[in-house]
Amino acid sequence: MKISVIGTGYVGLVTGACLADFGMEVIGVDKDEAKIGALRAGRIPIYEPGLENLLKKNEQEGRLSFSTDIPAAIQGSTAVFIAVGTPPLPDGSTDLTFIRQVAGSIAENLNGYKVIVTKSTVPIGTGQLISSIVRAGAGRDGEFAVVSNPEFLREGSAIEDFLRPDRVVIGTGDPHALRIMLDIYSPLRNAGVPFVTTDVESAELIKYASNSFLATKISFINEMAELCEALGADVEVVAKGMGLDARIGNQFLHPGPGFGGSCFPKDTRAVASIARASGGRLRIVEAVLEVNDHTLRRMLSKLETAFGSLAGATAAVLGLSFKPETDDVRESPAVAIVRALVERGCRVRAYDPAAMEACRPLLPEVVFCVNPYEAATGADGLVIVTEWNQFRKLQFEALRDVMRRPLIVDLRNLYKPQEVADAGLRYVSVGRATVEPAAPDSAGDPLARRAVKEAP
Ligand code: UGA
Repeated sequence: MKISVIGTGYVGLVTGACLADFGMEVIGVDKDEAKIGALRAGRIPIYEPGLENLLKKNEQEGRLSFSTDIPAAIQGSTAVFIAVGTPPLPDGSTDLTFIRQVAGSIAENLNGYKVIVTKSTVPIGTGQLISSIVRAGAGRDGEFAVVSNPEFLREGSAIEDFLRPDRVVIGTGDPHALRIMLDIYSPLRNAGVPFVTTDVESAELIKYASNSFLATKISFINEMAELCEALGADVEVVAKGMGLDARIGNQFLHPGPGFGGSCFPKDTRAVASIARASGGRLRIVEAVLEVNDHTLRRMLSKLETAFGSLAGATAAVLGLSFKPETDDVRESPAVAIVRALVERGCRVRAYDPAAMEACRPLLPEVVFCVNPYEAATGADGLVIVTEWNQFRKLQFEALRDVMRRPLIVDLRNLYKPQEVADAGLRYVSVGRATVEPAAPDSAGDPLARRAVKEAP
């Protein structure tokens, strides 16, 4: 079957590559010529494990190609997957300009029955909107069906999430379109993946409800972390004790600086705004957003307290992307933290395995370093903001040797507090007690002894 995927951003590329891998003949289209030129030359614009290989393999095997010719792609396809951006507007609602444009193009190029599939996260009612644009533009009815097929990919594990999903959601009122969709996804059906088939509106809402619920878990544990700090409890044990209850589950209960990225902040704001526009309110979701803002502010107070004073201090920041295994810095808590540190007069030396290029224009005051130890050189404290695996095995001795003061502020709880203290560093984490270095070294108090290096 011939499929076009409109939009070669994150969702579009992963969807296109994986559908081609299912055996479909896929054409990825975008109006951005530079992007398509780069893709044709084998350069992919995002960092996502496994994506480059999958794109290459399917291109070489002739199932995947890229083009800027949107009309030809639409005319040549039975199913048109829409994966264009749906950015937020200042009031939290969603900008549907690109969706409207694509719907208009489909209307102009409707040369036979087509299944129009929304992959982008779109407000409830967008399926209807697309239908009305296509119907009005094409001047006739019955030759298309709109399907909502939300994606549940996580950046950093997107290929795995597409090929081994917890479920596939298909929303449509058209039995023929449903059959086509089930055919497209037959490799997953054969693998026993559960399918939820429903109407368009319910499918659209499943996406927002899922992201909002996951965000709720995160804000919930972040509030518990704050309470743990006040009461002397350990949030990691609390999360473990809760998560073992199968009704709660152990995922998305990791405390930290609050959720970021291109999805949770945007989708929670959007669904709250959708509810208000419908005359209601999502009080829990609104509270989740408030707690998320509060959590970031709380991390800054934590840094202020840990450093003593931020003005004139040097912080080594590890991790800039919003999560590991990606170079995406959209709504990254790390970027917000670095900006706030700089505003408070703190010098920042930073290291991230993938996101430094993306950060250079955003954070001009920052000194970007080649590894954690260079970042730590001369620093008054090392701040772990994103939990890249390579930050889980830092050599404490080497850090102590280069830092001005032996302090780690770990906003992701990567270490057992005692292990850091035993290595002679003060350790501040989230929802757990701060531990002081176990034993001063020969030079006396380890917190005072490091006047050895200034930041270069
Ligand atoms: C999220 C969802 O997990 C996907 O299912 C969904 O498809 C995607 O949004 C989307 O709507 O496109 P993603 O934004 O890639 O995926 O990243 P997550 O792994 O969900 O993390 C989001 C944020 O929550 C990150 O800032 C992360 O650090 C934070 N988080 C996550 C926590 O602070 N604690 C946790 O326990 C889990």
